[in-house]
Amino acid sequence: MFDEYGLQRVVELDDAPLPTLCHFVYCSRAADGVDGAEVDRIVEAAKRSNRACGITGVLVFGAGVFFQWIEGPPAQIEHLIASLHSDPRHYDIVSLSQSEEKRERLYPNWEMERVEADDIRVVLKDALDSVEDENNAAALKRILDHFDSRPLLSPW
Ligand SMILES: Cc1cc2nc3c(=O)[nH]c(=O)nc-3n(C[C@H](O)[C@H](O)[C@H](O)COP(=O)(O)O)c2cc1C
Repeated sequence: MFDEYGLQRVVELDDAPLPTLCHFVYCSRAADGVDGAEVDRIVEAAKRSNRACGITGVLVFGAGVFFQWIEGPPAQIEHLIASLHSDPRHYDIVSLSQSEEKRERLYPNWEMERVEADDIRVVLKDALDSVEDENNAAALKRILDHFDSRPLLSPW
């Protein structure tokens, strides 16, 4: 921890232990009356709340369908999952992927970013290109496969 001059060495980012992160990915259907303006309100409130509890991620909305990736400390993610399940603004929540592991964040700078449905493959493929962590890469490939097998914009 000390260099040859007896000064405390600044811990390099590469040396920092990876945090235990939980991620949850799901699709759901928007309730009647939930339009683009309501989704913007959901995102603005989510940004404030997520910033306070260390959650990051993306929310996609298109053709009345939500797709969301959330990641953060396990206890906070569990709490948010419970809130999402009792939120009347969407229904038919389908869990696509959930895990708890030590790894880097996929979206470290987005407290919650709304992404247009046409762009989601680009966002996921960009993340896949830049990700070094094997678990992240495997989870992203599963989600991309999911889209390829069931296009987001087709009626469910
Ligand atoms: C599609 C969708 C995505 C949401 N994403 C978030 C989110 O990322 N963070 C958040 O705090 N709330 C989000 N919410 C709102 C939560 O469901 C919930 O209303 C909010 O967390 C307050 O919950 P509480 O009343 O249990 O505290 C989302 C709601 C919907 C419908």
